[in-house]
Amino acid sequence: MSADPWLDSAARVAEWISDYRKRLPELPVLPDVSPGDTLELLPAAPPEAPESLDDILSDLDRIIVPGLTHWNHPGFLAYFSSSSSDPGVLAEFIAAALNVNAMLWKTAPSASELETRMIEWMRRFVGLPDLFEGVIQDTASSSSFTALLAAREQALPGSRTEGLAAREPGVRPLVYQSDQAHSSIDKAVIAAGIGSDNIRRIECDGVFRMRPDLLDRTLASDLEAGHLPVMVCATIGTTSSTSIDPVRAIADICARHGVWLHVDAAYAGPAAALPELRPLFEGWERADSIVLNPHKWLTTPIDCSVLLFRDPEAVRRSLAATPVYLETGVEARNLMDYGLPLGRRFRALKLWFLFRRLGAEALRDMLRRHIDLANGFADRVRMDDRFELVAPVPFSTVCFRAIPPDADRSAGPAIDGSSSSRADDWNRYLLDAVNRRGRVFLSHTELSGQFVLRLAVGSAHVRDEDLEAAWTELTHVYEDLRTD
Ligand SMILES: Cc1ncc(COP(=O)(O)O)c(C=O)c1O
Repeated sequence: MSADPWLDSAARVAEWISDYRKRLPELPVLPDVSPGDTLELLPAAPPEAPESLDDILSDLDRIIVPGLTHWNHPGFLAYFSSSSSDPGVLAEFIAAALNVNAMLWKTAPSASELETRMIEWMRRFVGLPDLFEGVIQDTASSSSFTALLAAREQALPGSRTEGLAAREPGVRPLVYQSDQAHSSIDKAVIAAGIGSDNIRRIECDGVFRMRPDLLDRTLASDLEAGHLPVMVCATIGTTSSTSIDPVRAIADICARHGVWLHVDAAYAGPAAALPELRPLFEGWERADSIVLNPHKWLTTPIDCSVLLFRDPEAVRRSLAATPVYLETGVEARNLMDYGLPLGRRFRALKLWFLFRRLGAEALRDMLRRHIDLANGFADRVRMDDRFELVAPVPFSTVCFRAIPPDADRSAGPAIDGSSSSRADDWNRYLLDAVNRRGRVFLSHTELSGQFVLRLAVGSAHVRDEDLEAAWTELTHVYEDLRTD
């Protein structure tokens, strides 16, 4: 016991974190719980009297940890990784203690300016020109929504005051994206009042990239019909397969038709820090707005999404609203003007700690290691005739399928009578069985109408042996299913 109870509590929590991190690899990645199990263990009413930290931590171990899907588990290879390296954990601790709210420059002068500088650091890290400014949002969903509001105001001046009534009757506001774009763009379109029927889903080529010829044709015919293109969203690193839309060609088309170009690089954006991968990002420097998420592939604890924009005034014009009680008389950038929330967490601290404690070089090394691990796994898939790759691997995510042992790759009758193929069912069983074993957690998607297994590397904690384990689990379960 020290003289300061706060220090004792903080040390207890730090000890708990350290212990959790050490035993994490031994825990199953996915919990063995059913909906409602955790609720049942939680009292219906709050306690009247204070409880000891020891009691709370012990319930954390008894009730919460067994019900967690462990995103920081080294065997977490599902979705896109969102892991927390130590600098971000420490920064979150301090951010909560400082509890500043960087809504106005005046309410958090140094936090506001640190955020501005961190945006510059991130921009430099990924090699974008200095004409981009930006802010940190909670998620890519919020970032893309903010970008869409700016695009809406640019396409339809007055829409911030009149809403969509600002357009001529019969004129449809339209948003263009590939059929592989993330659902957050759909949600943004819904929230912006544009309506999801007004999304033009442009078909992709054989490797899941938006076809610029179709985009061009669709835009031209919509313009001819008198409609109103609001935004084109290109994706670098689509969620299903990490495919890369041809951004340069798309930027040419947007420039020709005068349409806002938003680039969703939520997952892949940090990889632009690698000079050898820069060609994959060609053309993104011509975007009006770009989103990339340090809380995905840059080991920053959720939440931290970087929204970059070319014209800060366009964003301010679409959203800024300052009531009298928030007027300050100070000539400075108020970050609340560049997004929906008024209150803003001190997220910049996480990036400051990340860059300073690890350094850009170590971050680049990590990205390269993840890419190597994913490619090593893809090689195993390629060389084993029980499996097949179903998409290129430009970054650190592998899309693949098991081929059923009787080699019936064609669509046969589904076990459950649905329209899914026998091979789909086989892959579903395989994935479920692998995940239930608890050593690794993979996810799935659909590509070309087929059920596809998906392994994504991107965690601060992933080790070579976890990729090895993923392969061992898959082949082991495959053989088990074969003999069943
Ligand atoms: C390409 C892409 N964009 C956007 C998102 C949404 O990210 P967020 O959870 O930060 O809103 C995702 C999530 O996986 C994504 O893959």
